[in-house]
Amino acid sequence: MPPFAPPEPALALVTGAARGIGAAVARAFAATGAPVALLDRDEAVHEVAAELGALAVTADVADAEAVEAAVAHVEHEAGPIGALVNVAGVLRGGPVLDLDDADWHTCLAVNATGVWNTGRAVGRRMHRRGTGSNVTGSIVTVASNAAAVPRTGMAAYAASKAAAVALTRCLGLELAPHVRCNVVCPGSTDTPMLQASLPAGAGTEAVVEGVAEQFRVGIPLGRIAAPADVAASVLFLSGPAARHITLQSLTVDGGAALGA
Ligand SMILES: NC(=O)c1ccc[n+]([C@@H]2O[C@H](COP(=O)([O-])OP(=O)(O)OC[C@H]3O[C@@H](n4cnc5c(N)ncnc54)[C@H](O)[C@@H]3O)[C@@H](O)[C@H]2O)c1
Repeated sequence: MPPFAPPEPALALVTGAARGIGAAVARAFAATGAPVALLDRDEAVHEVAAELGALAVTADVADAEAVEAAVAHVEHEAGPIGALVNVAGVLRGGPVLDLDDADWHTCLAVNATGVWNTGRAVGRRMHRRGTGSNVTGSIVTVASNAAAVPRTGMAAYAASKAAAVALTRCLGLELAPHVRCNVVCPGSTDTPMLQASLPAGAGTEAVVEGVAEQFRVGIPLGRIAAPADVAASVLFLSGPAARHITLQSLTVDGGAALGA
């Protein structure tokens, strides 16, 4: 008998699930037969939820009250959340000297405060359920390899992702032993966010090969990640196979950050 057990069935709540990596994570959980609930500010989340037969809620992760209401609604409708996956995120690129203050604030509000809001709303509930029992929960935050490696034109985004990494690991320390908290740091992944960041008409060749004048070394494994590549690591860290892993950060970038 393991010392700790996830609640059965372990409902997974995935933020940013309307498309891209979040939708892939939701599909990966659903494929295991786990119940899943989807959160996004985009109404398109209802289409993914319909495909999976899952519950969906629309909320802005940057809005603490909306997140608290959404989490309460999910637990009321679908039961206790056993796994939270923070995927919702935004990219606002540009050199520090040119970037609007609003872009800085948006990156911080969604990518860092969003994790603060969901981590507290779900973490409080998981911690309460875990106290005096062997029930555990898991929180995984999808950050970025840009959190650890300086990148031109990515300062606001990278800073917000570094904050999300630090917050998730501190949360894991405070919520142990009842909740494990880990991070997945993707590199370039084929999603609407990546496509929108490419220069007009450009493909992903330069991303794979590297751009010397931007100090980008390229991707040693020679390909852009598929959203499912990131989802597989999220699933592993969320599940019982990772029951003795917490406070860790797993980079899924084909080697682009040279292991940093
Ligand atoms: N695609 C990449 O190359 C890449 C690389 C590293 C990290 N990431 C990170 O992975 C995560 C997913 O990225 P993606 O590429 O799938 O992006 P995406 O833009 O394709 O999807 C992001 C999703 O998050 C939702 N979202 C954005 N702001 C929100 C908010 N305030 N409240 C609720 N939902 C919100 C969007 O509606 C969208 O459905 C992000 O955190 C991103 O920073 C992506």
